Amino acid sequence: MKFEKNILCIGAGYVGGPTMAMIAYKCPRYRITVVDINSTRIAEWNSEELPIYEPGLDEIVRATSGKNLFFSTDIEGGIRDNDIIFVSVNTPTKTFGAGAGMAADLQYWEKTARQILQYSKSSKIVIEKSTLPVKTAQAMENILRNTHSVYFEILSNPEFLAEGSAIRDLENPDRILIGSQDTESGLKARETLAEIYANWVPREKIITSNIWSSELSKIVSNAFLAQRISSINAISALCEKTDADITEVSRAVGMDSRIGSKFLNASIGFGGSCFKKDILNLVYLCRHYGLNEVADYWESVVKINQYQQVRFILNMLTAMFNTLTDKKICLFGFAFKANTGDTRESPAIFIARRLLEEKAEIVITDPKALRNARADMAGVNGKISFVEDPYMAAEECHAIALLTEWEIYRNLDFQKIYDTMAKPASIFDGRNILDHKRCFDIGFNVYPTGKPPLTHF
Ligand code: NAD
Ligand code: UGA
Repeated sequence: MKFEKNILCIGAGYVGGPTMAMIAYKCPRYRITVVDINSTRIAEWNSEELPIYEPGLDEIVRATSGKNLFFSTDIEGGIRDNDIIFVSVNTPTKTFGAGAGMAADLQYWEKTARQILQYSKSSKIVIEKSTLPVKTAQAMENILRNTHSVYFEILSNPEFLAEGSAIRDLENPDRILIGSQDTESGLKARETLAEIYANWVPREKIITSNIWSSELSKIVSNAFLAQRISSINAISALCEKTDADITEVSRAVGMDSRIGSKFLNASIGFGGSCFKKDILNLVYLCRHYGLNEVADYWESVVKINQYQQVRFILNMLTAMFNTLTDKKICLFGFAFKANTGDTRESPAIFIARRLLEEKAEIVITDPKALRNARADMAGVNGKISFVEDPYMAAEECHAIALLTEWEIYRNLDFQKIYDTMAKPASIFDGRNILDHKRCFDIGFNVYPTGKPPLTHF
């Protein structure tokens, strides 16, 4: 069968895999290949057990894999044989040299650009899907324009999916953003990409801009979302001092249609591979341009996030008579949010480490993230165990710290759990998802986030 378009994606991660699976699913006339340097990951994409857990992903991969969706390690062949190339490699925070701890580490992205240059035999559209600092496309162009035989048109097309709801977000996005140059070939490439999305996304949701606005809009979107979480978390601290209730405050504030009700859930802080990295990158860029006040403003979003996690531990310490030594604490959830197995930058990692420093024993349970949790905690000193079943995990524990808002935790039999725990038994609800009054009536001392505690003392 002759396919209408041949599309390559470099990087088979949380973005590349689901995004390309969705294009393949919606566009059976296109042939999509996803390549990666990580051969284990590619083998997993080609197996029954996909490398990432994402509701609805299995179904669309099963429907397309081997038909018009292919996962491979042949990067050279992939670049040679496809004329539309998405780049979806990781862009973590730099850990070394200039900008360490702040700037984006662009080594993976630059290697990819050089590979594209090396293996291309015909002109291509190269699409930045990774989140990149504003002006990165300029650098990409400087690398790719080092040949006279092949022409590369660079587009920016940032991805806005959230993990746990990736399939829903991809199927029904708020917007698709395409940044291009305002030249004849730039506008033509932009239309080629818009045509792909128009197979299932209404045209009015496919918006365009110049490349720099597109690159910057992605980082600013994440910064705004994270800022809302830090805003509500900052107010949760004040609620705990004043007997106000953060859920009531969120509801009242969020009903103002200018503010909106989403992303106002107080928590143990945001995690995930992107919010912190992207804000730090924004801070770095602002400092680079001498905008120190702007940098300080955005940096405070990350500081409040850290403060919220520290506060959670201090609240536990205070409530448990200022010592956690030899106390057994069960962590309900380790993923950075519900409906994913991803633990990158999960607040649970910091909280687990701090509890171990206090010489507590910890038991970690999570429906999907235990494999990653084991890897995150490998080599950390202290008593740690991993238990799949939450009832067994809580047995003989002095406290439960609820860290991920998995739906299953709402519906557990807390009487049964209470009966097997050491007394006094406490619950620290870092996500405010439990029925606090009911847990209190069972006998627990309950410490929600941003609400007055319910204790039997
Ligand atoms: P990831 O680490 O899950 O996947 C990146 C993949 O790229 C890895 O499998 C890695 O092996 C591969 N890779 C690196 N260098 C390569 C090379 N030279 N050739 C081939 N493969 C290479 O990362 P991710 O979570 O998918 O994120 C990718 C980008 O998308 C990042 O810039 C991120 O900020 C952005 N983003 C992520 C999300 C998300 O929810 N995770 C959402 C929107 C945007
Ligand atoms: C986020 C953005 O929502 C996506 O639009 C973006 O594409 C993505 O980052 C990215 O660039 O990687 P993600 O990190 O997957 O997506 O998940 P979110 O739903 O944004 O949650 C992030 C963190 O904030 C989680 O730890 C979550 O528990 C926390 N959160 C979220 C809160 O603490 N309170 C809230 O009200 C909402």
